[in-house]
Amino acid sequence: MGYVYLSRRATFESTPNPIALALERLQKRGIKPLDLTQSNPTLAGFRYRDDAIRAAVSAPDVMIYRPSPEGAWQARQAIAEYYRERGCPVEPEAVLLVSGTSEGYAYLFKLLGDPGDVVLVPKPSYPLLEYLATLESLELRRYELVFCDRWQIDFDSLEYAIDDRTRAIVIINPNNPTGSYLKRVELVSLLELARARHLVLVVDEVFSDFPLELPPDAVTSVAGLDAGPIIVLSGLSKVAGLPQMKASWLVVGGPNDFRREITGRLAFIADTYLTVGTPVQAGLPVLLELRREFQAQARERLRHNLERLRALAATKSACRLLPVEGGWYAVLQLPPGIDEESWVLALLEEEHVLVHPGYFYDFAGAACIIVSLLCEPAEFEAGLERLGRHLPA
Ligand SMILES: Cc1ncc(COP(=O)(O)O)c(C=O)c1O
Repeated sequence: MGYVYLSRRATFESTPNPIALALERLQKRGIKPLDLTQSNPTLAGFRYRDDAIRAAVSAPDVMIYRPSPEGAWQARQAIAEYYRERGCPVEPEAVLLVSGTSEGYAYLFKLLGDPGDVVLVPKPSYPLLEYLATLESLELRRYELVFCDRWQIDFDSLEYAIDDRTRAIVIINPNNPTGSYLKRVELVSLLELARARHLVLVVDEVFSDFPLELPPDAVTSVAGLDAGPIIVLSGLSKVAGLPQMKASWLVVGGPNDFRREITGRLAFIADTYLTVGTPVQAGLPVLLELRREFQAQARERLRHNLERLRALAATKSACRLLPVEGGWYAVLQLPPGIDEESWVLALLEEEHVLVHPGYFYDFAGAACIIVSLLCEPAEFEAGLERLGRHLPA
């Protein structure tokens, strides 16, 4: 299309990758592969309290529009209470509602950087960050997580990535898909670095309620810490398994003056859009309370599926299942010699089972595949059987 100007920041590669093309071919043949990437909780066979959820978002007062840029006070109180129950000293004033964690990132990127400024994100990690930064005209630069018995931040690569235009370090705690939590010593070093280089720590904790092999030195949440400029992101999407409700939040930590300035500016940004619907704001205290039932089921499922995957990996000496400290995903390293896309395509075309290649998440080094531990157990086990058939012993 040559007759209008379109922004460069919204120009993305639109040719389907070979895995998407292979999926299309299977679909045309009427074949539905077993999906070991399923991580939509509403399509994964969990029991939800439908009546209570519907009632929560249908109270009579949802007919009145009383916009508040920070979000409804009762919703912010419920979120603060959720953190206090987890041992984090969060005040409702420090909480701001957004419609999704992705929107939370967008607000933070608007707040923290001017066009061309830099945010640092972990590698490997969640692929959407690239688009979120680009759409805000920021440059995304990666620092490495390295695996050596367990995942850790490579501080040399982090410091190397910082320059005068760097504004924030994004930490995903636990990371998607490595499942690795932030460790106490890492937090101390990050706070020092943030102080020395005037950076904000943006900590995405959407998966922090799902520990699996939790190390004793893991930091499960940094919400409410006043030791430095920290902004935490989370939301109902993962915490309560309710992505369709579109309600997430930011928690601003750090010294009082920082907190006041940041919440004021974020409220200004949020006031420009006012995206969070009244029904979900009104229902949030109940929806958040209902997380307990979802989380109990999800944790049980994650443990069960991880056990099954461990059992399979134990029969495959050429493969290695990396430890899963928490989250919804597992990483399986594959034997050398074949690249990961060829593995994924062969699994799809020959075994009709879908997994993600490591490169979707920017993995470097050994070929690996990523599976979702949130899959329904019957589908997960059937998929593992096919994986077992295909992978060498
Ligand atoms: C690490 C991480 N952060 C944020 C999100 C998006 O969350 P939301 O649905 O609240 O936008 C995801 C989604 O998978 C994620 O993996």
